[in-house]
Amino acid sequence: MLLILLSLSLLLLDQASLGLAQQCRLLIGGKDLGVGAPSPTSASPTHTSVNGVATGSSGPSASSSNSPTPTPFKYGQEIIRGVNLGGWFVLEPWITPSLFQKTNDSAIVDEFTLGQMLDDDTVLEILQNHWQTWFTEDDFEAISAAGLNHVRIPIGYWSVPITSADTNHTTSIAPYTAGAWPYFIQALNWAKAHDLHVIVDLHGAPGSQNGFDNSGQRTGNPTWGSDQDSVPRTLDIIQFMAEKVGGMIDVLELLNEPAAYRQSVNNVLPNFWKQGYQVVRQAAGGSIKIMIGDGFIGVNSWQNFLTYPTAQGVFMDFHEYQIFNFDQLELSLSGHINYSCQVMNQLTSYEQSNIFTIIGEWSVAPTDCAKWLNGRGVGARWDGTWQPGNPTFGSCSNMTGDMSNFSDDYKTFLRKYWEAQVNIGEAVQGWVFWTWKVENADDWSYQRGLEGGWIPQDPTERLYPNLCS
Ligand SMILES: *[C@@H]1O[C@H](CO)[C@@H](O)[C@H](O)[C@H]1NC(C)=O
Ligand SMILES: *[C@@H]1O[C@H](CO)[C@@H](O)[C@H](O)[C@H]1NC(C)=O
Ligand SMILES: *[C@@H]1O[C@H](CO)[C@@H](O)[C@H](O)[C@H]1NC(C)=O
Ligand SMILES: *[C@@H]1O[C@H](CO)[C@@H](O)[C@H](O)[C@H]1NC(C)=O
Ligand SMILES: *[C@@H]1O[C@H](CO)[C@@H](O)[C@H](O)[C@H]1NC(C)=O
Repeated sequence: MLLILLSLSLLLLDQASLGLAQQCRLLIGGKDLGVGAPSPTSASPTHTSVNGVATGSSGPSASSSNSPTPTPFKYGQEIIRGVNLGGWFVLEPWITPSLFQKTNDSAIVDEFTLGQMLDDDTVLEILQNHWQTWFTEDDFEAISAAGLNHVRIPIGYWSVPITSADTNHTTSIAPYTAGAWPYFIQALNWAKAHDLHVIVDLHGAPGSQNGFDNSGQRTGNPTWGSDQDSVPRTLDIIQFMAEKVGGMIDVLELLNEPAAYRQSVNNVLPNFWKQGYQVVRQAAGGSIKIMIGDGFIGVNSWQNFLTYPTAQGVFMDFHEYQIFNFDQLELSLSGHINYSCQVMNQLTSYEQSNIFTIIGEWSVAPTDCAKWLNGRGVGARWDGTWQPGNPTFGSCSNMTGDMSNFSDDYKTFLRKYWEAQVNIGEAVQGWVFWTWKVENADDWSYQRGLEGGWIPQDPTERLYPNLCS
């Protein structure tokens, strides 16, 4: 989950010069939006050579027992359709507020402070109960039954059981609590059992790469980029993950949402991506796909970066939210649809001359109303309960929470917005919705969207095929 999006101005500059609405219509018109299996010809031939992703498998062949799922996913030919398993191995107060409320301590705002404020036994008990219950095999079955083919699994560095034999850097994770790894391995096996391909994403790095609660630690001073040790330590952790589970997963995402608009992160990120690429290739061979992210500075900041033949099998992950600044919140509902058409244009153009691209996080929420979305105890920009003195846009009561408060018009919008953003993803390599389930914010829940009808049971179904025209 991102809290800031700085690429708006870049985006608007781009579209001004490109006659965007027209391009948007052409792209959508050219796409197969029909029902059925993804068209094998939907990716242009240049994609394959530009990206260096051989269809089928490539590089040192993994033994069949190592293959991630019974049938290898044909990246570049098939469309990634998936959901994130948010709030499981990295806690987020807005996804599971009840877990935080039960601590009786409002100073516990993330997984880091959970470990700081409570004794180890209590934390382990809370977390084990959460790991066992927040996702179960039934969820994997339901995700598969919803026509999805991927899950993206966020994990924090503190859950990776690296030992001093695996690194020359510290292995201390205090104040975090270890223990999630066996549940994570179980998740990989459930994914395999239900024909789901897996993107594993390092969501929290030592020191925090962005200062958001979803990195493990909500802090105004994230130190991943400035600590001497954090980056090389993260590379050792990546190497360990690639060695241990490289044969069980399809994609390893080196790091989620590093805040490259911070100088300290910007200084180290390009080399981290390059070294991370090398580390994973050496540890896990040529078949596994490696994912990087735009770091909030826009995909166009990563021109000619890790492209073929310098690298092969690298994906760009762009996170598509339109709610974390006032310029975006003030868009009308149809303005959000328009905005999606612009993003689609930007990503397709980036992908054509660079690397395979996905939207690895997005939702249908048009507001930041979900309780604690901006942090435990923090209000929303939308209704003026956070950052007073700025414009407000209305009440939050019928925009989030339980769908029983959603009007029919709102649900119609949610469906259109879902389709608009799926169209973005399907114009490139695919999409991964954030997130499968949320305790009390149905606007963010794929599961509740299916129940409420604004997400179709068949993700290729379209009720609004001309949203960009
Ligand atoms: C929070 O308060 C409730 C009710 O007093 C109590 O049962 C529970 O054990 C407390 N939780 C913790 C983590 O102390
Ligand atoms: C730790 O440092 C030693 C000495 O430089 C080196 O031989 C070894 O490969 C390093 N271990 C790891 C895991 O990087
Ligand atoms: C969306 O774009 C269309 C076509 O460019 C335009 O006619 C319409 O006014 C736009 N709507 C909003 C809300 O920006
Ligand atoms: C519906 O909205 C009202 C305020 O209008 C709020 O008090 C109530 O909690 C909401 N119900 C649900 C189920 O979210
Ligand atoms: C939410 O409620 C307000 C006040 O009743 C209403 O004006 C608005 O249209 C509603 N929003 C949606 C999306 O239904």
